[in-house]
Amino acid sequence: MSAKKIRLLVLFGGVSGEHQVSLVSAKNVISAADRMRYEIIPLLITKEGRWFSANDPTPLLEGDTSRSFAVCLPADPNERRLHSLEEKELPEYLAHPIDCAFPILHGPNGEDGTIQGLLSLAQIPYVGAGVLSSALLMDKGYMKLVFQDAGLPIVPHQVHSYHRWEKDRQAVIVQIESDLPYPLFTKPCNLGSSVGISRAGDRDGLVRGLEDAFSYDNRVIVEKGVNARELECSVLGNINPRASILGEIVPSNEFYDYAAKYIDNNSELIIPAPIDDSLMKLGQELAVKAFVCAEGRGMGRVDFLLDKDTGELFLNEINTIPGFTPISMYPKLWQESGLSYPRLIDELVQLAQEEFESHSRLKKSYTPN
Ligand SMILES: Nc1ncnc2c1ncn2[C@@H]1O[C@H](COP(=O)(O)OP(=O)(O)O)[C@@H](O)[C@H]1O
Ligand SMILES: [Mg+2]
Repeated sequence: MSAKKIRLLVLFGGVSGEHQVSLVSAKNVISAADRMRYEIIPLLITKEGRWFSANDPTPLLEGDTSRSFAVCLPADPNERRLHSLEEKELPEYLAHPIDCAFPILHGPNGEDGTIQGLLSLAQIPYVGAGVLSSALLMDKGYMKLVFQDAGLPIVPHQVHSYHRWEKDRQAVIVQIESDLPYPLFTKPCNLGSSVGISRAGDRDGLVRGLEDAFSYDNRVIVEKGVNARELECSVLGNINPRASILGEIVPSNEFYDYAAKYIDNNSELIIPAPIDDSLMKLGQELAVKAFVCAEGRGMGRVDFLLDKDTGELFLNEINTIPGFTPISMYPKLWQESGLSYPRLIDELVQLAQEEFESHSRLKKSYTPN
């Protein structure tokens, strides 16, 4: 008799600018997952935040909810199953207990600890970072504080609040210019996909960049611009993670902006990155250290900026739910490092279950003597 299949809840879509990318990522994960091992329960979160499930994932992955059920996931850990939000009962297949969840939601409302919080309350093991690490790594300001504390190389930067910007723009500009040379990058602290990011060559550009970034977030990070090559490394594991080989992204625009990522399709991925062995090794070491110091779990794609002028390697960011599209770096780097797509999914699910188990030994209550 074959072993019982793992009932895997795959969450995709989401209230996020990266909704569409998530659908493409999820389609790949669902088609690569071994059907001898998993029963897939697909779950689409629409752009409006409604949840839908169906036996057949295909229409949901196209955003079509016509033959699906409006559902919710109760936070009550005694349930661990989807509930219907409609008069009609859920088909048995969808109402069974969930063994593990795989959130493939990019950006805010999915990669930032919110969904992870719900899954933690519901006591469902889930793939990827926990609440703290997800929230930390979604925030470019706090992420850098932790990297800095661990002695990891990051570019010089400052974080500014909208409150202060509104009160005294001049003081903010003076503070930036006295410490950081142009060109500068301005970014909303909590966003992704390069939305709200600008490169400024002078003061006018800086003011425009700050205004744009502040329209997306009340906290903005300003960084020294590096004349950079962009390298990426995939990390896999829990407390003893391992690193893939590094790949290089050659953006089709001046920097890897939204259009270069998703629209014009001309950015190039080079795997392995054409760099010497010592730099490859350094990147892998830094990737693992960064993942560990940020309490990463399961997966993380660690992105670097390699200064073309000085040869310095800077840690730029960690993405806790990297893209899983056919052209995405995270699974491709593992394929080239000898780990196939289906085995990668198996390992991620196993890591999720191990992480969940590691919490089961902990006391849940305290009785004073
Ligand atoms: N300090 C910097 N110097 C040079 N290029 C940068 C810098 N910061 C960001 N970039 C460019 O902007 C892109 C997006 O920035 P990133 O910090 O990765 O934000 P996101 O989370 O939106 O991907 C990078 O891939 C890179 O091309
Ligand atoms: Mg990035």
